[in-house]
Amino acid sequence: MSIPVPFVDPPVAMHDSYGRRLHYLRVSLTDACNLRCVYCMPDNIVFRPPAALLQDDEIVTLVQAAASLGVDKVRFTGGEPTVRRGVVELVRRVRDIPGIRRLAMTTNGIMLPRLAQPLVEAGLNQVNISLDTLDPAKFRQITRRGDLNEVWRGIEAARAAGLTPVKLNCVVTRGFNDEDVVDLTRLTLTQALDIRFIELMPLGRVADFQQSQVVASAETRGRIEAALGPLTPVAGHNGHDPARPYRLAGAVGQLGFISSVTEPFCEGCTRLRLTADGRLRLCLLRDDEVDLMAPLRSGADFATLRRIMAEAAYRKPWGHRLEENDIAHSREMSQIGG
Ligand code: 5AD
Ligand code: SF4
Repeated sequence: MSIPVPFVDPPVAMHDSYGRRLHYLRVSLTDACNLRCVYCMPDNIVFRPPAALLQDDEIVTLVQAAASLGVDKVRFTGGEPTVRRGVVELVRRVRDIPGIRRLAMTTNGIMLPRLAQPLVEAGLNQVNISLDTLDPAKFRQITRRGDLNEVWRGIEAARAAGLTPVKLNCVVTRGFNDEDVVDLTRLTLTQALDIRFIELMPLGRVADFQQSQVVASAETRGRIEAALGPLTPVAGHNGHDPARPYRLAGAVGQLGFISSVTEPFCEGCTRLRLTADGRLRLCLLRDDEVDLMAPLRSGADFATLRRIMAEAAYRKPWGHRLEENDIAHSREMSQIGG
């Protein structure tokens, strides 16, 4: 990161001033959700009206612009992406954009019994399903309303539709599920699951709670090893995946730790995020954003949009500033999608 890389005009492939090539776009389809996880949003949250969100055509245009700048992987996030009307058709349209080679989705799984098969037929390649505990009472407490059985049915539906291996996201929250990581890990002994333990990240109005309940990955890993034995690194790690894979002896599935707070992985970051209201967010944990919806709605042509996007990407910052207690307060996690 020591030699500044110049901006090239007209832009070809997006990179930032540190030389990171940005080829992975996460698109939040809505800030709305059918759950209210304690670490994600306040209970009394008010969601944006649909007109304030990017419309389908607008999403397609922006992904086309991104693809023309070298983006080859897209992930749909939320809120909860499956509560957006027309999500299957949107998967099909984005999957058809030349250059987009992989389309993934992060979901709470509840709608998957109905949607997994149509999503796969539309071209979805992968799902990450949130699952923080195997205990139905704790699940209800964390999500403030959810039924764990519905998530299991969603996981089964994803598998039946061929979305394997299913990746599970577990946000570790002190006092809620810090002990549950052991039972979750035990699942990998017999099931081809990929479980990712995520450090709680502070953002928006629930930042104080998130900061006080964070559990470092080192602690989670220690708890798992104390109960189930040593974890061995799995070969073949993709350097841009923030989760380094590990396995218990004899296990079919694997696990990983995403340590955004205690061990940031900025060097390997290839991501940009599009918020549901059409802002390009340059780093999850910082408030730097560039509005794409306004130029889109005021009739900017494709060349202009891609130039705005590439120039914004070039200014992608390096590193969160949590150690200086600099928290990004402008948005909730549910407006960005992790
Ligand atoms: N810290 C870390 N991960 C979070 N998620 C939601 N809020 C947070 C947070 N504060 C995760 C969810 C889900 C994805 C949408 O983001 O568990 O996997
Ligand atoms: Fe919904 Fe996911 Fe946020 Fe939970 S973490 S409230 S499931 S968006």
